[in-house]
Amino acid sequence: MLIKTHRDGFIHPIGSEITPQSAYQGRRDMLKLMASGLAGAALASWASREALAQAQRPGKLAALAAAKSNAAGAVTMEKLTPYKDATTYNNFYEFGTDKADPARNAHTLKTTPWTVEIDGLVKKPAKYQLEDLLKLSAQEERIYRLRCVEGWSMVIPWVGYSLSKLIEKVEPLGNAKFVEFITQADPKTMPFVGSRVLDWPYVEGLRMDEAMHPLTLLSFGMYGEVLPNQNGAPVRLVVPWKYGFKSGKSLVRIRFTDREPKTAWNKAAANEYGFYSNVNPDVDHPRWSQATERRIGEDGLFAKKRKTLMFNGYEAQVGQLYAGMDLKKNF
Ligand code: MTE
Repeated sequence: MLIKTHRDGFIHPIGSEITPQSAYQGRRDMLKLMASGLAGAALASWASREALAQAQRPGKLAALAAAKSNAAGAVTMEKLTPYKDATTYNNFYEFGTDKADPARNAHTLKTTPWTVEIDGLVKKPAKYQLEDLLKLSAQEERIYRLRCVEGWSMVIPWVGYSLSKLIEKVEPLGNAKFVEFITQADPKTMPFVGSRVLDWPYVEGLRMDEAMHPLTLLSFGMYGEVLPNQNGAPVRLVVPWKYGFKSGKSLVRIRFTDREPKTAWNKAAANEYGFYSNVNPDVDHPRWSQATERRIGEDGLFAKKRKTLMFNGYEAQVGQLYAGMDLKKNF
């Protein structure tokens, strides 16, 4: 555990394992160059780009220390999505439906103090202050692809720990079969809560074995820094093998239940958004194909699209959770 929360509410680094977001891509590019023997020539230009990137870092975000994960599937050598794209092209309907709206509007979200309530079918219901939730387990860095149902994807270095660590602490009862994730819905600080797009609060759900899967991440940060508001501060879920909308932002309550939760997008359009929502190139959305995707920040408007992978490329890790299920019916 390498983090310490100060009175100002931010998380300050101790130890030396912090990787500023601007350094990520540089280091990865460097590794590739070193392998190809071109490192020396590239060093000078890399250093100046690095200085530029440092200067552009948003000052209000504090660094979040995390060790690299060695969980299966948690690392990819794919190019990271630039920080700027990951923080300005967002879905967070509480702050508007345009991709640029969350970055523009989410400054009103009040993230301190923050409490996450755990209730329902558990032996130890609890109300966790964010600081206590942060201390519950060591932070890890996981580089996950996030595939949005709309047909685009990103590659983001998330910081957090497996949700299973929290679930083990609260001891679900034997009849708990599902987990419901309820997110903040405060009309005073979230200007679009109350709009008719969705039935608020934004609710998502997982089956218990999905919630317990080590890849399911309770995330507090990205690119080595605490989550920007538009990305779901101060705590969100990241479920990398499912469409992005399963990854609820700004969580306030986690409820254990014996029934499949009624999720926000399923309530809005049941024929378009099923409970499972596993990334599946073979099951089209009723209004578009899911066979390909556009990688944000990397591909130009006319660039060739990428093929979407089954379970977003995490089939080896999660495929067995769905053995024997008809994934066309359970989309
Ligand atoms: N969580 C809440 N509370 N509200 C939302 O509108 N949008 C979802 C998900 N979590 C959403 C949410 C969708 S559709 C996607 S694709 C991801 O957040 C986007 O996460 P990102 O903006 O960090 O890439």
